[in-house]
Amino acid sequence: MIKVMFVCLGNICRSPMAEFVFKDLVSKNGLTDMFLISSSATSSEEAGNDIHYGTKQKLREQGIPFTRRAARKFTTQDYNEYDYILVMENANIRGLLRIIGEDGEQKITRLKDYADGGDIADPWYTGNFDDTYRDVLSGCTAFLKYLKDRAVV
Ligand code: 4NP
Repeated sequence: MIKVMFVCLGNICRSPMAEFVFKDLVSKNGLTDMFLISSSATSSEEAGNDIHYGTKQKLREQGIPFTRRAARKFTTQDYNEYDYILVMENANIRGLLRIIGEDGEQKITRLKDYADGGDIADPWYTGNFDDTYRDVLSGCTAFLKYLKDRAVV
């Protein structure tokens, strides 16, 4: 089982988008049984809250299934359990290090670094879920290719 955790600041906009986009890609590749895919936050700001309306709207528009969920903060247990911890931006790495201390097993990478590199803009601030979706999709597609190229899946 390959365990993948997407992380952002609040766990209501970007990381749930990445969770459901990646689940959809994995499903379309017939690989669902090989993965555990989840998402969480570096903060408790939105703990318990469902996905942001803008992310839901974008997922619906793209025909990507999603479930109701409750935002939650990343834990040290998550660090031990998950194999790949994919963050949206550099600030998320600093947030994770405040929780876990250090990335001793080098599990943390930036999602967009599997594609063209850089941070994924936070739609909470920009209001632009189109750019976020484009970056999340290209990052998730490139990450799945990375796993295939290395015969992980
Ligand atoms: P996210 O967006 O990290 O993509 O889920 C945010 C959600 C909430 C806040 C910031 C960013 N907030 O400050 O509450």
